[in-house]
Amino acid sequence: MGDKVTAPKVRAMRGRQPIVCVTAYDASSGAIAEEAGVDVVLVGDSVGNVVLGYETTVPVTLDEMLHHVRAVARVCRRPLLVADMPFGTYQESVPQAVASAVALMKAGAEAVKLEGDYPEVVEAFVRAGIPVLGHVGMTPQSVHRFGGFRVQGRGSEGPVVVDQAKRLDEAGVFGIVLELIPAALAAEVTAAVGCPTIGIGAGPSCDGQIQVFHDLVGLSAETFRHARRYGEARSDMVAFLTRYATDVREAAFPTEEHSF
Ligand code: KIV
Repeated sequence: MGDKVTAPKVRAMRGRQPIVCVTAYDASSGAIAEEAGVDVVLVGDSVGNVVLGYETTVPVTLDEMLHHVRAVARVCRRPLLVADMPFGTYQESVPQAVASAVALMKAGAEAVKLEGDYPEVVEAFVRAGIPVLGHVGMTPQSVHRFGGFRVQGRGSEGPVVVDQAKRLDEAGVFGIVLELIPAALAAEVTAAVGCPTIGIGAGPSCDGQIQVFHDLVGLSAETFRHARRYGEARSDMVAFLTRYATDVREAAFPTEEHSF
């Protein structure tokens, strides 16, 4: 597979080199991630908030995920392509979870990610040949239980997060996303498990980092403490379209140069 990033290669990166992960939702963001040389592309169910205009990831369906996974899979070659399992597609039973994961793999995913404490599902995926990434801490599909998108694992909740991560590790995940937890707790989890940890709002001690594409390039309307904006794509794009609108209104576009 040459330079191709695979789930076992991601696992083996722990302690050797930081794992660079980003979300992508369509062929253009997928191609940009590929060109930038990231290791892992996640078709996140954050597609719900970021692209589809939902308030949370809860409404995202398997069909919606399949549509976006297919788009990214058409362009994503070197990075490992991971697909999020949307809410309601794995919580009911192990057979339901396996059927959902199989559908995502047939759409082009090379691994799946699920949120929360489901070691029995992880074991079934591993048995079925499906690499799986865990996700603990602030798991957005549980936003209604948490009462908002807030930091998790503070105080007496810390050991609960460590135990969840250990169970997932023992069940066979190739990595675990740690989202919005204190940096000291992320360091504790990282020391307690054998697989790599991939942080988002979890400090610098994780084995890798993941960020939402739109937050990194500045396409998101909101700014977040856990993200660094490397550009201001949103205001740049508004400026581009404003200039286009002015040109059309003032008959400055199209010119002969754009005509046949
Ligand atoms: O859906 C998503 O984008 C995610 C990452 C932020 C970890 O789950």
